[in-house]
Amino acid sequence: MTALLITGAALAQAPSPSVAPRMKAIIYHNYGSPDVLRLEEIEKPVPNDDQVLIRVRAASVNPLDWHVIEGAPYIFRLMGVGLFKPKETQLGVDFAGTVEAVGRNVTQFKPGDDVFGGRTGAFAEYVCARADRAVVLKPSNMTFEQAASVPIAAITALQGLRDKGKIQPGQKVLINGASGGVGTFAVQIAKSFGADVTGVCSTRNVDMVRSIGADHVIDYTKEDFTKSGQRYDVILDNVANHSLLEYRRLLNPRGKYVLIGGGGLNDGRWIGALARPITALVLSRFVTQDMSMMLAQMTKEDLTVLRDLMQAGKVTPVIDRTYTLSQVPEAIRYLEEGHARGKVVITMEPKNQSSPVSANLAANSGTPLKSYLIALALIGIVLGVSIVPVVVALLLNRQFRRRHPGYKPFRWGYYFSLMAFIGGLLLGIFLESTTAVIVCGIIYAVLAWFFAQRHRWAWITLTIFSFNPVAWIVNFVYLRKRWAEDSAATASI
Ligand SMILES: NC(=O)c1ccc[n+]([C@@H]2O[C@H](COP(=O)([O-])OP(=O)(O)OC[C@H]3O[C@@H](n4cnc5c(N)ncnc54)[C@H](OP(=O)(O)O)[C@@H]3O)[C@@H](O)[C@H]2O)c1
Repeated sequence: MTALLITGAALAQAPSPSVAPRMKAIIYHNYGSPDVLRLEEIEKPVPNDDQVLIRVRAASVNPLDWHVIEGAPYIFRLMGVGLFKPKETQLGVDFAGTVEAVGRNVTQFKPGDDVFGGRTGAFAEYVCARADRAVVLKPSNMTFEQAASVPIAAITALQGLRDKGKIQPGQKVLINGASGGVGTFAVQIAKSFGADVTGVCSTRNVDMVRSIGADHVIDYTKEDFTKSGQRYDVILDNVANHSLLEYRRLLNPRGKYVLIGGGGLNDGRWIGALARPITALVLSRFVTQDMSMMLAQMTKEDLTVLRDLMQAGKVTPVIDRTYTLSQVPEAIRYLEEGHARGKVVITMEPKNQSSPVSANLAANSGTPLKSYLIALALIGIVLGVSIVPVVVALLLNRQFRRRHPGYKPFRWGYYFSLMAFIGGLLLGIFLESTTAVIVCGIIYAVLAWFFAQRHRWAWITLTIFSFNPVAWIVNFVYLRKRWAEDSAATASI
């Protein structure tokens, strides 16, 4: 008892543990609309030996941000970002700011350096970034807001044009969606490569797109560029609002179509535009043009290329609107409308004007029930596609054996029929139209039915149209074996 009392007294006199420094950041705990975002106080990050601690002065918003908040397309939730709720609770990537502290091994930066780059969690007062990753010195002729608008959008435009489009001086380049975040950088970067640039945008943006260097501007509200009769060497597509065949017709025989993105909040919530890259890849095999999608990689090297272009005055970010940290939900809502004019920027509000944490943001904590239902549906689809055909095939096999006791069992043939039918539906989805889904579904179902009746022509046709080299090999081997067995059985009757 005495010992306990002494311990208690000693504890009472001990100095209270020092409180870890805090910072304000935009946080979300559930998928949903921008209403799920909160301005919260969290622990200020501490740089490790290889990192720099940056006081964020400005950040910028990208469509990626609304994709991750909404957890859309839903299929992304199966890819490690969190099935029921987001694993990463901080938001934002693009930032510009001032180095406040550096780790022991960092030699490229020192406190006081102005930098910009990309790091998850940029909608916060501080970020830590590895010094050897995507962070570089800010050009002196750029404001923090301008520098923060660069990383994702400009890197996407640069890599799309240079690496995928293999852009050359004098080439004719079409940029669909020339007035948005990626588009405004793409027009200027394509000009810096000496290309002849055509930008596509709406009426209100025609003058702006011309002012940043486009040689020709097509107002999509008045003219359909796919019917202009013009041919291009490179098409950079930020909108994906025409069919791949229409884009192909616009390309020179060795032209390149680069799919950057497209599709708004309500376009294909389950798989979004994910089918299009696969269709482009397949189409590319049968045409002389190169059609593909690109995924931007945030690299220090390309940030340096962009910094040099900005320093030389060849690229100047176009900024549409500026919001404060507490207004991030409004900024994202605005971007979700799909008509941003250049970049939407977040500026860190001065300390004396800071808003009360969480108070000015919607108190809505999201719709966990909806997230759970979507997660269950995703699990159901995966299980359904992988397990249900096996079970149905087993049942059909059993029924077949009961009805035709003298016959060889159908083995995995029923399973193949069912998978072929599912493959037909997927092909329809890839072809991007409801009619294609219905037509492919019916064609594959009819083939599967005839195959189930043991018609060899249906088996061969389905195998070919599975577009699956593994199915081609497996079925070729199996088909030969099966036919040999059938001939032997016929001979012995
Ligand atoms: N693959 C990648 O690595 C990558 C990287 C970044 C972004 N992305 C994707 O690329 C797309 C564009 O990104 P962003 O940052 O530029 O988006 P954004 O800033 O929201 O720009 C959207 C632009 O699209 C234009 N637009 C809308 N409808 C159009 C139409 N029918 N024809 C032509 N233009 C139209 C709008 O111009 P008007 O107001 O004039 O209509 C607006 O300026 C998004 O889907 C994004 O997810 C992909």
